[in-house]
Amino acid sequence: MARILRLPRPDDFHLHLRQGESLTAYARREALSFGRALVMPNTVPPIASAASIGAYRASILSAAAPGALEPLMSFKLLPGMGAKTVFECAAAGAVAGKYYPAGATTNSADGLASPGQAAEALAAMEEAGLVLCVHGEDPAAPVLEREEAFLPTMDRILGRYPKLKVVLEHVSTRAALDFVRANARDGRLAATVTAHHLLCTLEDLMGGPLRPALHCKPPLRSAADRDALREAVLSGEPFLFFGTDSAPHPAAAKKSAKVPAGVYSSPVALPALAGLFDGAGRLDALSGFVAARGAAFYGLPPPEGSVELVEEEWEVPEEIDGALAFLGGTRLRWRLK
Ligand code: DOR
Ligand code: ZN
Repeated sequence: MARILRLPRPDDFHLHLRQGESLTAYARREALSFGRALVMPNTVPPIASAASIGAYRASILSAAAPGALEPLMSFKLLPGMGAKTVFECAAAGAVAGKYYPAGATTNSADGLASPGQAAEALAAMEEAGLVLCVHGEDPAAPVLEREEAFLPTMDRILGRYPKLKVVLEHVSTRAALDFVRANARDGRLAATVTAHHLLCTLEDLMGGPLRPALHCKPPLRSAADRDALREAVLSGEPFLFFGTDSAPHPAAAKKSAKVPAGVYSSPVALPALAGLFDGAGRLDALSGFVAARGAAFYGLPPPEGSVELVEEEWEVPEEIDGALAFLGGTRLRWRLK
């Protein structure tokens, strides 16, 4: 008999749903695995006001089947953003504000050159109890050093806003992990980890033919960094929880001469994680990572409902929903039931 794995319905604390027609497929796909998703605001134009939060939430809710996916909304911090806008976003239901260093990644040219550019907004977030989500890369540094180069800025933010809850998104290096570990003691700093940074390295991206499906920011890393992340997640370190950073781009763009960063992992993230945790003999640690610690950090109720996976081999299609799928063409041991 094939083994069945039943989990509390997981939460995805970092998701890109995009806009327009493609949003429907991405939202429905996400709902097959996750009950709640923190939706990133780097659309064009950005989600940066109460009105845009309301409209974006409505379009997500109408895309997925009723009750299938609860979007947790975020807004993008823009230079000069005032306290009033932040309080309005909070009143409109936002749970987080996102710090994108200007130019660090997709649709971030309008981001921040320094935390000082959003000082009033950050103070207002601290007052309103909103979580600050940070894309922790310094675009001025060489590409493989950007995450570590941003850590002093993280330190400044933590020091300047002592009550602000902060998530360092998609940690990818041992240096960032150690930083979070050292600063997480009072429960106000946590980090999300993606499936792709846990499962793949730079070798997978470019050790053979270049695989554009794996190009992302922050980039995939060495086996040593990946193993540090694995060890921390598999041992259930309390300040780490799951965010897919699923970031689909149309397949044609991924096959072009200028490949955009983003891994479409939402369709396979849970089966891939089940394989990783099972292979390490730590299936027991999976639910804490995907369905408990994130909600607790955000002060949300524990997930309702459940999801089941079955141990049954399948091959991931190269393309799903018009995007190149994470792990496309590879065989996984677990599948969504
Ligand atoms: O690889 C990435 N893609 N990293 C990000 O930070 C943004 C995302 C996107 O929106 O495509
Ligand atoms: Zn992202």
